[in-house]
Amino acid sequence: MTDFTDRGVVLTGAASGIGRLMALRIAAAGGRVALWDIDEAGMESVRGEIVAQGGQAITVHCNLADRQSIKSAAAQTLGAFGAVDILINNAGIVSGKNLLEITDEQIELTFDVNTLALFWTTRAFLPAMLERNSGHVVTIASAGGIAGTAKLVDYCSSKFAAVGFDDSLRAELKRLNSKVMTTVICPYYIDTGMFSGVSTRFPWLLPILKPEKSVERILGAINKNRRRLIMPWFVYTTYMMRLAPVALSDWMLDFFGVTHSMDRFTGRK
Ligand code: NAI
Repeated sequence: MTDFTDRGVVLTGAASGIGRLMALRIAAAGGRVALWDIDEAGMESVRGEIVAQGGQAITVHCNLADRQSIKSAAAQTLGAFGAVDILINNAGIVSGKNLLEITDEQIELTFDVNTLALFWTTRAFLPAMLERNSGHVVTIASAGGIAGTAKLVDYCSSKFAAVGFDDSLRAELKRLNSKVMTTVICPYYIDTGMFSGVSTRFPWLLPILKPEKSVERILGAINKNRRRLIMPWFVYTTYMMRLAPVALSDWMLDFFGVTHSMDRFTGRK
């Protein structure tokens, strides 16, 4: 079991969406949360909410697209907490446009935040976790890290890489006989605003998830040391679809409305 009581927790992208909700719940469960985000005002507001409920949190300004910023955020956090027990790589961004409509810079930024930051944050905290032979590295990836779709070429590629990051890190930790845990989370769309405008054809199979319920399940998975959480359950069928010929699995993704899901995407304004 990974308990949050009195644990030092780094949570990236803590200023909004599921990051904010996770921060509130982890603090309520007795965790000391280092809120990492680029959005200072958002972080301060979350810290205010945590303090008001009697919890402990610090805000650490960090631009996850900048390796130096991550290094100094890690040093600041270790200075305040002494040790970090749980790292939750949650921050993520989406462009939501066709491949030729996004700029080179947007593609790079997507990979910087959604993928490369995982390397820099984990490399900052893993050595001490290995030394203590305890710790937990959580990757908030996406169902888009299991199946790709239109208007998300940069996003899905970056999340496929995030899933690969978790998979390989888990294997590496096993080879090292380490007790450091990893958990990867692959949700379908969550109603946080990040993916505003997306649609689903069969909501009873592929619902747009509610943030509160999603966070409850994510934190439950971390608590229970689950290696992987995919939600909703229907997304697990992606693995079976992969066994079918590509034309058939593409047809299925089309039929279930996944291929068109981003047609009316507006995202955060
Ligand atoms: P959100 O947009 O509400 O929150 C993302 C947070 O990341 C924001 O506070 C933002 O300021 C921060 N952030 C963005 N760029 C940053 C940077 N360069 N440095 C530091 N912080 C930065 O997003 P939401 O919906 O809470 O998503 C959280 C995670 O869940 C993301 O990784 C996302 O890809 C993933 N996810 C979200 C889904 C959804 O439908 N909302 C579905 C599947 C996965």
